[in-house]
Formats: sequence, structure tokens, C-alpha cells
Amino acid sequence: MSYTMIAFIAALGGLLFGYDTGVISGALPFLKDEFQLDPLMLGSLTSSALAGAAIGATVAGGLADKYGRKPVILIVAVIFFTGAIISAIATVLSVLVIGRILVGIGIGVASMLTPLYLAETAPPAQRGALVSLNQLMITVGILVSYLVGYLLAQGNGWRWMLGLGALPGLVLFVGMLPLPESPRWLAGMGRTEEARDMLLVLRRNHQAADEELHQLRSDLQREERVKRMAHLKESRLDRPMIIGVGLAIFQQVTGINTVIYFAPTIFKAAGLGSTSATILATAGIGAVNVLMTLVAIKLIDNAGRRALLLTGLAGMTVSLVVLGLGFMMGAEGGGALGWVTALSLAAYVGFFAIGLGPVFWLLIAEIFPLATRGRGTSAATFANWASNLVVALTFLLLIDSIGPPSTFFLYAALSVVAFIFTYRLVPETKGKTLEQIEADWETVA
Ligand code: BGC
Repeated sequence: MSYTMIAFIAALGGLLFGYDTGVISGALPFLKDEFQLDPLMLGSLTSSALAGAAIGATVAGGLADKYGRKPVILIVAVIFFTGAIISAIATVLSVLVIGRILVGIGIGVASMLTPLYLAETAPPAQRGALVSLNQLMITVGILVSYLVGYLLAQGNGWRWMLGLGALPGLVLFVGMLPLPESPRWLAGMGRTEEARDMLLVLRRNHQAADEELHQLRSDLQREERVKRMAHLKESRLDRPMIIGVGLAIFQQVTGINTVIYFAPTIFKAAGLGSTSATILATAGIGAVNVLMTLVAIKLIDNAGRRALLLTGLAGMTVSLVVLGLGFMMGAEGGGALGWVTALSLAAYVGFFAIGLGPVFWLLIAEIFPLATRGRGTSAATFANWASNLVVALTFLLLIDSIGPPSTFFLYAALSVVAFIFTYRLVPETKGKTLEQIEADWETVA
């Protein structure tokens, strides 16, 4: 099996993530009628998956460090499958909430382990592109969920919308069975022979496998030395943790999911009154997200992580300011100004898709030292889902209290802070092996 094939199968974890991120907005109006939900219950239902994801992200890293990456991914596929089926057949609210929490746990675990597995198995020169297949699948999942939501928008359609999520769960499980365990994790556990076998499966070339194993071994020896120098170990860990958790928070508090979850609401507020215009605009947003992620994949191993992050953040800031100004000048009236608003929203999503979207997930899989990679990635992923939850809970409140212009200006201001943070702290990792990235922290400290 070629490595690209392996990467595509593992990246199905991203498809689960994306599909379920997007599908709830299409299902919500029907769930509201079926279960007679008041706004508070609606909010809790939406948040249950996000809270589940935060829980999943917290436990995943420790488990993956202890038992390996592959068994945990297999378990996740089962949890996800079960949660999707339970949600689809639920007849009372409590069962639906349990289903959604299970799905959430699945997404939370998949969101951290998919990039981690890809980063640990990919050849360094293409690691950026291959890990970003995860983000590509996320965006494809979101787009598919919008389309499914549109096609099934009647009566009991919500059961199919939620149940269809079981399908990628099943494919992930079956596809993952023959894939190799991460050689880096095996080597870290002292299982060097198995690590070599897996490298051979991945590289299909004895010399390349031996060279990589040699590199891994010397890295592990260096790590042992470093561990004995406790203070150095501490400072080596602090820096990646600040960067990982910081980027996790910035990825969410700059507002992306207000668009992904509430695009139709924003478009209505911007005066795109007719349902068809709103649907068209929302599908357009989903398509821009996929296309610009493809552009990022093309550039990420050449232009590098920093250039994409900084360009993306600058573009997001400008688009958000234009968006806020559009609302300030009365976009609600519709017409040309309404479309300016829609276009700036599309530009904002496009800039997210070439920067913070893929680069955040890539960096948190790259920057932590092997010994704590699972736990470090977990902490950053937890911070990401917790911030996602906070933004989802506060967005509509902000729109009601301070109004759309100030809300978008606030996200613009946070994008500026994210730009400065990135400029000052985020290292360039393109082309380096994970072991070189790890060694570089010693010089930083
Ligand atoms: C983010 C998600 C977001 C998605 C949009 C991901 O990188 O983590 O919160 O919904 O991108 O494409």
C-alpha cells in the first residue's frame, strides 16, 4: 500500500470531525420541533458534542502514549459509530444527548490523534501536506454535511443526517485495521524491531527505513540524557506548551465557528433574505474552505508554516474589519452591501483555510518532544475544544448585546494578537524531522 493511501485512510478521522461539526446546524430546526426544545435546551444539545470532544481530547493523549496510536484510533471509530446510531434512533432527548456526547468524544479523540499519527508516519519533506490531509477532510466533511442537510431537509430527515456519520466511522475502522502502528511510538517504547518493521512497511525501502531508525534511536538516547537534567526538561516543555495551547485558543477565539455553525444566521442578518440566497452563500463558504485548504496543502512544505499563518491571520483581520464595517454601514438593508458582507465572510474563511486551519493541527503534532507528544497534543486539543465551546455559547449573546459590528471587530482584534503571538513565538518546522524539531528546543531554552 502506498503511503498516500495510508494517509488518506488515517485522514478519515478528519472527515468524521468535519461532518459532525457541520451537520448539527442542518438538523437543529428539526430537532427543535421533534423534541420541543427551548433555546436553553437547544444550546445544551449543540454544546453536548463540544463538551464530549473536550473530554475525548483530554483522555486520548495519555491512552495513546501508553497503548499506542492505532488501538486508540480503532476504539474511537467504534465509539463514533455507536454514538451516530444512538443519535439517529433516539426518541427521547436524554438518549439523543448521550448519542451526541459519544460522537463528541469520538471527534475529540480523532481530532488529536489523526494529525499525530500522520505526523509520526509521514516522510519529513511532505509532512506538512500529508498531515494537512486531515484538515482537508475536515473541510470536505463540513461541505458534505451542508449538502446532506440541504437534501434531507424534511420531516425525519434529521435521523439520516445524524446517522450517516456512522458510515465514515465504519470505513475508518475497517481501513485502519491493516495499517502499521507509529514507528516513533514503538521506538519510544523500546520495541525497536517492530519499529523497523513498520518503517519498512511505510517506506518500502530498506535503506530509508534503517536511516530513519538510526535517527530515531539517537534521538531517544539524547532524550534519556536530557531527562536526567530536570531543569532543561522543564524549560523544553514549557515553550511548545505555550505555543500549542496559545494557537489552540487563537484558532477558535478569532471566530471561525461562528461562521461554520451560524453562517445562515449571519447571512440573514446581512440582508440576504431569501432562503435560496442563504443556502447558496453557505455552500459557497463551504467550497471556499475546501479550495483554500487545497492551496495551503500545495504551499505548506515550501512557503513554510510561519508564512502561511502570518498571511492567513493578516487576511482574516482585514476581512473581519470589512465585515464589521459592512454591518455598521447598514448591511441589514440588503442589496450590494449585503453581498460585500457575504464576500468578506468568504474571504475570512479563505484566509483561515490557508493559515490557522491546517497549520494549527500540523504544528501541535510536530512541536512536542516524543516522550510527551501524546499528552502535549492532548492539552492543546482540549484547549481548542474548550475555546470552541466558549465561542459557540457567547456568539449569539454578543450579537444581541454589543451588536454584529463590535462582535466582528473583537474577533479582528484577537486576530491581531494572534499575529503578534505567531510572529514572536512560532518556530518554522518545514523540512525538519520531528527529531530535529525536538533538538532545536534545547537551543531555545
Ligand atoms: C477547526 C474547526 C473548524 C474547522 C473549519 C478546524 O481546523 O479546528 O473548529 O470548524 O477547521 O474548517
